[in-house]
Amino acid sequence: MEYQYIQVSRDGEVGRILLYRPKVLNALNTGLISELVQTLEDMDQDPTIRCILLTGGNRVFAAGADIGEMATATSAELMLSNQFADWDRLRRIKKPIVAAVVGYAFGGGCELAMACDMIVAAENARFGQPEIDLGIIPGAGGTQRLTRAVGKARAMEMVLTGRAITAQEAFSVGLVNSVVPAENVELEAMKLCQLVARKAPVAVQLAKESVLNSFDTTIAEGLDYEQKLFYLLFSTEDQKEGMQAFVEKRRPNFQGK
Ligand code: CAA
Repeated sequence: MEYQYIQVSRDGEVGRILLYRPKVLNALNTGLISELVQTLEDMDQDPTIRCILLTGGNRVFAAGADIGEMATATSAELMLSNQFADWDRLRRIKKPIVAAVVGYAFGGGCELAMACDMIVAAENARFGQPEIDLGIIPGAGGTQRLTRAVGKARAMEMVLTGRAITAQEAFSVGLVNSVVPAENVELEAMKLCQLVARKAPVAVQLAKESVLNSFDTTIAEGLDYEQKLFYLLFSTEDQKEGMQAFVEKRRPNFQGK
């Protein structure tokens, strides 16, 4: 497939997607989001891919939605074009996605990183929701995922003032998994992906589903759901293999069945 705004590759069982609009700091226009989501869905369907790495390259993750594209839009146009339809598809991806963030993750860029399952950040990474300075608010999860990730006080401050936080601040409030020198970000993110890729694929997908479900349910509903998924995994060959391998003191060989 030909891509205009992203580059796609793979390293073993890890699919890699590079956001590629370097001249505009990877501003997320609708074409880029559409290519990204289509590729994520393709990787989700590909049994030879077990984890996905999303990167903006070694300068910037993404400076937000493409302001030029939105500047003259009307409410009706945005509503009728269902502006965030592709973002809704993104949250249905079942395989884990790890974001490698160097430099700015602003606006939609911060929201995109937060839509991933784990974030490896460079020391120079900055996370911010500066939409308030454009006379709007975040529209792709910035008031929701950010609040759940960093708590009300910090989210309010970021969304109401537009002030960005550093990678260290993001780490200390639990928004990112690790902070590493910029030149190591992709390597560390790839290591994390490869670690996950070695686990039992069905268990990995259900684990992701159950953790995400905890944001949408009461604790009682979430616990019930978790139990059902737990029981379900005993119908997989990988559960038998995982436990047998433990007993035999060897590495399991998971097949995704
Ligand atoms: N949309 C379109 N173009 C953008 C862009 C964006 N979000 N961010 C940067 N660019 C473009 C700039 O216009 C500039 O293009 P030209 O060279 O043609 O002038 C180029 O990228 C480089 O940008 P700067 O010269 O501004 O780079 P800088 O290093 O001086 O500043 C920055 C970097 C602080 C990130 C600054 O570019 C900036 O503030 N960008 C906008 C950030 C923002 O407001 N994001 C939120 C967008 S709205 C949104 O995301 C809504 C949502 O929830 C989905």
